Amino acid sequence: MLLDRPVGAGTTRSTEAVVAARRSTRAFSDRAIDAAEVRALLRDAARAPSGGNMQPWQAYLLRRPAIERAADAIRATGVAPHRAVWDDYRYYPKRFFGSYDVRRKALGRALYGLLGIERRDTKRMRQQFERNFDFFGAPVGVLMTIDRRLERGSWIDLGMFVQTVVLLAEARGWGTCVQASFAPYHRALRPVLGMEEEEILVCGVAIGHPDHRDPVNALRTERDPTDMWLRQLD
Ligand SMILES: Cc1cc2nc3c(=O)[nH]c(=O)nc-3n(C[C@H](O)[C@H](O)[C@H](O)COP(=O)(O)O)c2cc1C
Repeated sequence: MLLDRPVGAGTTRSTEAVVAARRSTRAFSDRAIDAAEVRALLRDAARAPSGGNMQPWQAYLLRRPAIERAADAIRATGVAPHRAVWDDYRYYPKRFFGSYDVRRKALGRALYGLLGIERRDTKRMRQQFERNFDFFGAPVGVLMTIDRRLERGSWIDLGMFVQTVVLLAEARGWGTCVQASFAPYHRALRPVLGMEEEEILVCGVAIGHPDHRDPVNALRTERDPTDMWLRQLD
């Protein structure tokens, strides 16, 4: 099955190839992206399934300078990411444990290793993390919200929508990074976006042309073998 026609990529890839090629992009080139194309992509992504076809996603499409306004509002809080309070929803457990913690630490080592950041160099780690708030230099950022009166089921639907967004972007030859890091700054972002009180800021998605010269984009994360999480019953 052909997922989509990559714009400018010159080739058409199978769904399998698109899924295999997708990875988080954390550095983008200056090349612009047409807002109309992103709007079309979001429209297409809304073909994602949702329980009862409730379509619980809400999205804010930001371009520059709106991205700078959002980043400035976050910086103006003066709250560093490691001190930010996840008071609207928690993405991570209070304590990491077991294999989840092992994988999380492996990601950190791989990411900071590629950037030549030493284990104890917390200053540079924080600087790298703060690049999240500029959508890693992407020309487009999408912030996703959901109505707080909805249940966890609708959060599954939002996740499926987000995954469809990143796969359609990959099919167009664009890079993406899903970013939960915005969530604890929802108070600062509410007036910038014009969010309603009922909305929970769930995550962002950076969208742009990957900067292939930046070593951060060389990261290829590992996956556990299927045997570790799949049980077959016949
Ligand atoms: C919901 C969600 C939130 C994420 N938040 C961040 C984030 O705030 N910053 C970041 O750099 N990466 C973030 N990521 C990217 C993950 O680190 C990445 O997906 C994971 O390490 C697997 O690597 P891959 O996407 O390259 O396959 C997030 C991913 C998801 C699905």
